[in-house]
Amino acid sequence: MSQKPESHDVNDEVALGDVDAERRALLVNATAAFGIAGAACVALPFVSSMNPSRSVKAMATIDVNLTEIPEGEAKTFLWQGKPVFVWHRNAAQIEEARKGDATATLDPAKDADRVQKAEWLVVMGVCTHLGCVPMRGGEFGGWRCPCHGSQFDDSGRVRQGPAGTNLEIPPYRFLDDNTIRVG
Ligand code: FES
Repeated sequence: MSQKPESHDVNDEVALGDVDAERRALLVNATAAFGIAGAACVALPFVSSMNPSRSVKAMATIDVNLTEIPEGEAKTFLWQGKPVFVWHRNAAQIEEARKGDATATLDPAKDADRVQKAEWLVVMGVCTHLGCVPMRGGEFGGWRCPCHGSQFDDSGRVRQGPAGTNLEIPPYRFLDDNTIRVG
């Protein structure tokens, strides 16, 4: 018994071609959908890793207990990865800082405009030249930068370059007589 050969004409080719096209479209769509989902899976941990951790958020502000800083001394605190100098100035240091109002000419500023309370100077411990951390001392009563020799006075004003601007004052406020919040 002879088997009838399957019919195979030009129209069949076209029909088969359509099926392939549909399969291809399905595959493309599925791949695209997977790609987006895959990208989302990859992106989510990445985005979530960009959210600040609790410890980073905590460092957005720091509270400084001023009772730990004896009169006449300055202490360094870390705020957002940078040093902040808090100086408990005594009467003589305040007087020197006020005298500097007339002689600090590189970046003129009145001491009274740089403090909230005369006995507390709060400045960033970052040299305004290239970012080194200045050290207490120098010829003007405040700090001297070990990198290129800039000097800052009792008010954190620059008195000798190469730095051209005063030590910055970070945002801070008094929570009470013994505490400031930086940040
Ligand atoms: S970084 Fe301070 S003087 Fe250059």
